[in-house]
Amino acid sequence: MAAPVESITASISNTIATYPITTLLLALLTYYFAQSLQSYLHLSHIPGPWFAPFTDVFLIYKTWRGETFRELNTLCEKYGPIFRIAPNFVVVGDPAEVKKVWGVRSTFDRARWYKGFRLDPPNDTLISMCDGDGGVHAERRGMVLPGYTGREVAGLHEAVDEGILRFAKLMDEKYISTDTEYRPVDLARKIQFMTLDIAGRIAFGERLGFLDQDNDKWNYIEQAEASLPVMQVIAMRPWIIGLLQSRFLRKMVMPSANDPVGLGKVIGIAKAFVAKRFGPDKIEAPDMLGSFIKHGLDKDTAEAEAVLQVISSSDTTACTIRTALLHILTSPSLYASLLHEITVAISSGAVSSPVITSSEASSLPILQATLKESLRIWPPIHGIMPRVSRSDAVICGKHVPAGTNVCWSSYACLRNKEVFGPDAEVFRLGRWFANSDDTKDKERVKKMDEMWELVFGVGRWSCLGRGIAMVEMGKVVFEILKRWEFTIVDAERPIHNYFTGMLVQSGMWVRVEKRDQIRG
Ligand code: HEM
Repeated sequence: MAAPVESITASISNTIATYPITTLLLALLTYYFAQSLQSYLHLSHIPGPWFAPFTDVFLIYKTWRGETFRELNTLCEKYGPIFRIAPNFVVVGDPAEVKKVWGVRSTFDRARWYKGFRLDPPNDTLISMCDGDGGVHAERRGMVLPGYTGREVAGLHEAVDEGILRFAKLMDEKYISTDTEYRPVDLARKIQFMTLDIAGRIAFGERLGFLDQDNDKWNYIEQAEASLPVMQVIAMRPWIIGLLQSRFLRKMVMPSANDPVGLGKVIGIAKAFVAKRFGPDKIEAPDMLGSFIKHGLDKDTAEAEAVLQVISSSDTTACTIRTALLHILTSPSLYASLLHEITVAISSGAVSSPVITSSEASSLPILQATLKESLRIWPPIHGIMPRVSRSDAVICGKHVPAGTNVCWSSYACLRNKEVFGPDAEVFRLGRWFANSDDTKDKERVKKMDEMWELVFGVGRWSCLGRGIAMVEMGKVVFEILKRWEFTIVDAERPIHNYFTGMLVQSGMWVRVEKRDQIRG
């Protein structure tokens, strides 16, 4: 037997020596096919489009075009509550199953995808940390939590009120139309100026001055919006993340504190504020930054987490406020009932002035339901947010091998007809009100509430700013409706939405008139 084996080995060696390039190409092709076959087989029992086992280009392309929000739902309707979208990616459209994957006791960790959201690489902030980093996320979360709950942040509510009053001043001075004067205003932008100013004031104790200047200072909004689809795409390619975040390329392509514009500028501002809190002449202040430092964050980490706070809070709250206003303005019955609630609250003396308090706002059921419905219909954060498990799991009855990226379809989950009703596609507040004599109906609303929570994430990765966001959004929507009447300028295109993992909204042009004062 030895002779034929030797002759085969000799002939292979001969072939390699004679045709080295052809042999190399053949080897590469074989490797590629073996990989593809293996990749195909390990999730072949999960349905999905024909190309899913071979490439993630479709997912990347749709992310870039801002089409995954709707597209993943369409695929869910076609293939069922779990489907494969790329060689190692599955998507889940059942909210209860997503809750289990994200939940506190889940064995799933954040996927490497999250590293694409490092703001100042190679440093992580909470949003880019995974369990795989060695437990640092839980430790950091514990350190910043007191700052986010507001327990140690004096003037958090005042910061929101100050932003609202500054916004009111700008609108009253520059953008009130009359019968003889027309001063259209892009509410999308102005609302973001307000949320950015509020975010700065909460983080550093000083507002960033967007409303004072009434423009996109440092081109921050423009650059941040342009970088969002890039970040989402880069997150899909871990090797690009490594490359861009390498010492050499980082300096050229990533934001830097020395940049005169964009995210880099905000990082620079955070650095300057944080610098004042360290050293021999350090200032101690009872704001969020003060709380971070009190709980042991060092200078670099405090800077990074303060920047994250500004970025994660301003866009998300601005989106929800705009979404709420747009649906209010385009729905006469909702507009009437909300206005009635506001009028009754003011005239019965149940509301403080000049700005409603958070507990007063949270006791207004129609206002609160409007915020919930707004978050549900257009969730500000709707990217795929994949998780991976170190052990095999069963999701929607299908075996999911360890190491698979498990994503969610925010659209499919938050418009699930079994949970939110047959008209889940529609912005309708009625669904949030249970018949108080009907136990089954109360159960229905409880279930909706539980699934709705996905908009803020659940478990150990959930949004730390949820409380602040609900306070801010409730106050802002109330105060805006109390003060002004709006007419949409272009009913054919009242707003432009770009669903690129984080909702980017622009062009919400309105004509504004002062409302007759509602008297208490
Ligand atoms: C409508 C408003 C908001 C929405 C819908 C929202 C949603 C989310 C979501 C979905 C996550 C990620 C969860 C995950 O990876 O599973 C998150 C994380 C986070 N959010 Fe928010 N957010 C909002 C407002 C805010 C505000 C106002 C702040 C700050 C004041 C904030 C701070 C954070 C932080 C720090 C994290 C990272 C938490 C961690 O990884 O431990 N968010 N948010």
